[in-house]
Amino acid sequence: MITKEDIDKIFDAARIEEVVGDYVALKKRGANLIGLCPFHDEKTPSFYVSPAKGICKCFGCGKGGNAVNFLMEKEAMTYPDALRFLAKKYNIDIQEEEQSPEQIQSHNDRESLFVVSSFAQKHFSENLYNTDEGKSVGLGYFKERGFREDIIQKFQLGYSINHRSAFSDIAIATGHKLEYLVKAGLTIEYSNNREDEPASETTTETKISDRFWGRVMFPIHNVTGRVIAFGGRTLRTDTKKIAKYINSPETEIYHKSDVLYGIYFAKKEIINQDNCFLVEGYTDVVSMHQAGIENVVASSGTSLTHGQIKLIRRFTNNITILYDGDSAGIKASFRGIDLILEEGLNVKVLLFPNGDDPDSYSKKVSSEQLKEFINNNSKDFISFKTNLLMNDVKNDPIKKAGLIKEIVESIALIPEAIYRSVYVKECSRIMDVEEHILLSELNKIRSKKFNDKKTQAPEQHTESVPDFDTTILEDKKDITLSNAEHQERDVIRILINYGNKEVRVDSQDDEGNTIEIGVTVAQLLIHELQHDNIVLDNLLYNSIYNEFVEHLEKESIPDYNYFIGHENSAICSLTIDLISSPYSLSNWEQHSIYITREEDILKKSILSAVYALKSRRLEIMIHDIQKRLKENPEEEEMIQLMQTQHQLLEAKKEFNALLGRTILK
Ligand code: CTP
Ligand code: MN
Repeated sequence: MITKEDIDKIFDAARIEEVVGDYVALKKRGANLIGLCPFHDEKTPSFYVSPAKGICKCFGCGKGGNAVNFLMEKEAMTYPDALRFLAKKYNIDIQEEEQSPEQIQSHNDRESLFVVSSFAQKHFSENLYNTDEGKSVGLGYFKERGFREDIIQKFQLGYSINHRSAFSDIAIATGHKLEYLVKAGLTIEYSNNREDEPASETTTETKISDRFWGRVMFPIHNVTGRVIAFGGRTLRTDTKKIAKYINSPETEIYHKSDVLYGIYFAKKEIINQDNCFLVEGYTDVVSMHQAGIENVVASSGTSLTHGQIKLIRRFTNNITILYDGDSAGIKASFRGIDLILEEGLNVKVLLFPNGDDPDSYSKKVSSEQLKEFINNNSKDFISFKTNLLMNDVKNDPIKKAGLIKEIVESIALIPEAIYRSVYVKECSRIMDVEEHILLSELNKIRSKKFNDKKTQAPEQHTESVPDFDTTILEDKKDITLSNAEHQERDVIRILINYGNKEVRVDSQDDEGNTIEIGVTVAQLLIHELQHDNIVLDNLLYNSIYNEFVEHLEKESIPDYNYFIGHENSAICSLTIDLISSPYSLSNWEQHSIYITREEDILKKSILSAVYALKSRRLEIMIHDIQKRLKENPEEEEMIQLMQTQHQLLEAKKEFNALLGRTILK
């Protein structure tokens, strides 16, 4: 039990921005802070933290609360565990009884896994300093590799005694349940089936063994610094049969594909440097820290995953891959590049020469030289691929074409059109190929990808978690206040994707009775816009819109294939973009229906797009009036402006009501 007094102390000490800051890179916005929501996948920040109120909240998914609620939600902690966690973070002594073995048992499962993992880490560290074997073998090994004492302690490195059950025996003797030791992957249970004996007399004996023994230990920490797993390196060099590293298995607290070695020690510096170095191994991370470079993580034990890149994306949009220059390293870096581009991040690459990795290279040069080397040799991915492959390409046009294709395939993975076009320019310059050739190749790949995706997994396209509409963010509002770009784009998106689909609307027959009739999406949308004489400002969108108007007159409405094959390459690439990006649900769907096919709510989508555009236009007009009012016009004009403003505001209210949006003050 934690006393009421202690609970008050904890709440007083806990700073919401620090607790959340362990998970999210926060930026100041006036009195508040904002960042990417840690509860759902998003690219535009909708997560707010208010230090004054001590709370946080996501305007996208609605999750949030105070520091304790946040931890309970994020770490699946119980209320008392969240309090204990905070007490520890803020060095508050809480009066709790020492935990008895019974209490250890009654802890909830997940927390028990944290407890045994932390116990194991302390045990392995103690071995390193307080046992003869640990000192001579383990510590000796680290020292020989040139690891400094402060770094060994920082990373909580340790040693497991070279005896099959040394750790498990002690863990059990100190009250830790075998069940949790096994679940945490620290202890292995196995049975000795004596099959040589007659069936009736078969005896089954259950034995236990440590997963790690006779190895130096690298604890793996989660983002908040709790130990969740281990990597153990053998010290034996005599045999190749034994695995160099053994790692913890997947457990309830260790999901390999979402964990990066070193993230806890790196996150602050990743934010400061706005860049993250990605290396291959435990020792690379440790050695880079020793050399004073702290924004570094490793995807140890697995090949790089989307989950790991998403973890980095919480702190920066820039990744530099630092791998070994051998063929495995090259292959891994190619794969890494594509994964990172697909997540919409920027990627640079540096391969170390002559079989060096960051660890071995850092031991050969000074810290300054290492930093300089990395700065001078990191290349953007196009230069990297080109340099690497150019040698055998030089005078061979076929091979050159292959290389170009290879590079364009990577560019095609980038989700944002603007960035793709930057890289197309870069590639055109480096490879000396005309831009439009690259563009047409790019569009081919993207449309093929889209079609493949559609046929393979039709539901995947529509079921993606929506990227939430974030017009509520003040800063975004300012940037876009001068145009209705988003809303116009959405209108075109609907036309291209669904223009020739049918929706049912109410109409009246000759006698004035209400009847339901079918019209095409293009008909309905264009009718709605023409009703208010709306013309699209964006010339590209407008030309597509006009094509629909023309086709409508001829009563043949084109589908997206027509626009993919359009003679205007800007229209092709826009089309590819619009048919490949998952749609955003309108606001009213956010809290109830996450998974809806847009086709099923087409009419809603159309009206929502139309109202949003009209409402936006009104907003812009109101903004202009307000600007004019600030310039102190003559009284007559002022009254006129005020009247118009009033009418516009009323109209806007109506549209917002139609949109089902709450009007934010
Ligand atoms: N790895 C692994 N299992 C293995 C070999 C490697 O999980 N059998 C992982 C480890 O996380 C390791 C990383 O892959 O850190 C890179 O492997 P490698 O380059 O072989 O090891 P180093 O980290 O360089 O270790 P050392 O310098 O001690 O050889
Ligand atoms: Mn190494």
